[in-house]
Amino acid sequence: MSNWSESLTFKAVRISLDDEGKASRAIVERKAPELPEGEVLIKVKYAALNFKDGLSANGNKGVTRNFPHTPGIDAAGTVVESTHGDIKAGDEVIVTSYDLGMNTDGAFAEYISVPAEWVLPLPSSMSMKESMIIGTAGLTAGIGLWKMEQGGQKPENGKILITGATGGVGSLAVSIFSKAGYTVAASTGKMEEADYLKSLGAEEVIDRNTLSEENKRPMLKPAFGGAYDTVGGTTLSNVLKQVGYGANVAICGMVTGPNFDANVFPFILRNINLLGVDSAELPLKWRKIVWENLANDWKPTNLEEIAKVVTLEEIDPYFDAILKGEVKGRVLVAF
Ligand SMILES: NC(=O)c1ccc[n+]([C@@H]2O[C@H](COP(=O)([O-])OP(=O)(O)OC[C@H]3O[C@@H](n4cnc5c(N)ncnc54)[C@H](OP(=O)(O)O)[C@@H]3O)[C@@H](O)[C@H]2O)c1
Repeated sequence: MSNWSESLTFKAVRISLDDEGKASRAIVERKAPELPEGEVLIKVKYAALNFKDGLSANGNKGVTRNFPHTPGIDAAGTVVESTHGDIKAGDEVIVTSYDLGMNTDGAFAEYISVPAEWVLPLPSSMSMKESMIIGTAGLTAGIGLWKMEQGGQKPENGKILITGATGGVGSLAVSIFSKAGYTVAASTGKMEEADYLKSLGAEEVIDRNTLSEENKRPMLKPAFGGAYDTVGGTTLSNVLKQVGYGANVAICGMVTGPNFDANVFPFILRNINLLGVDSAELPLKWRKIVWENLANDWKPTNLEEIAKVVTLEEIDPYFDAILKGEVKGRVLVAF
């Protein structure tokens, strides 16, 4: 329970579980004091859909322990009230991940209440809508690029392989890396989407089957200057064996599972770096750096083309669609 005004009521998606653990969804009217305690009350302007929201909206206890609950891990909006000195009413802000939409009522609601350390000022050269088209997927891609460049990655080191390229993180990675000046090779299981991937900035589109077969050789001929892998498993094992000298490989996902085989040779003979990416708990001071890049030099030129905007009343079917891999691009709720 929070101290926000009793007179403020608002609409929110609410997920409830029955005795058998089956989830049902409704749009309900809530009162501001029912929101969790927080230093900042934000009127949400845009919320963006992510895979985790589909899980939470279907009652997944690994994401959300207690129901009833409002999902939504990505929000952009305007501060209405703040008890923190650095954040004022009227500020335009972004909140992504941390606990938002997991065990803290989330962004598929007209208002959220959050701790000040989750609140990032909207960069001046980015609209709220753009920030949510990028959202957690783009932040995850951007953190990878930021870490790779800290490891010395430069466009002249050669093309960057991006796996799971039509996925949420993958497609934003294709756009962001190409905007940042890199030549991108996009690996996909959907070769029929080659034109879409090229429109996002990929120069080359590779069939994912060429990377998914187990190969016993300790290293392969270098084919890429670096890589951003969202897939894991055998794909990642193969990627590590065929990046060139000094390459950086950023990893964020486990689409094919959490384990992968590796040997030391690419590391000690080709001097490569393997870099982990976490977008959920990354401290605000580093997020600010990545978001500044995303708002400027790395900002994809085609953001509007990958966004579908719906109302709160229209979001329901997308919670299931995202779990079935049927969502292409980014789905936003506009309030
Ligand atoms: N670390 C973090 O902070 C963070 C943040 C967000 C997401 N993630 C993780 O990153 C991964 C990708 O997330 P996402 O939101 O982009 O998911 P997504 O939208 O579901 O995309 C995953 C993509 O992987 C590819 N794929 C599917 N099955 C495959 C298979 N059997 N072998 C190889 N590729 C396959 C598909 O792309 P193609 O058909 O184009 O190959 C699919 O579109 C997930 O594991 C997610 O949990 C991590």
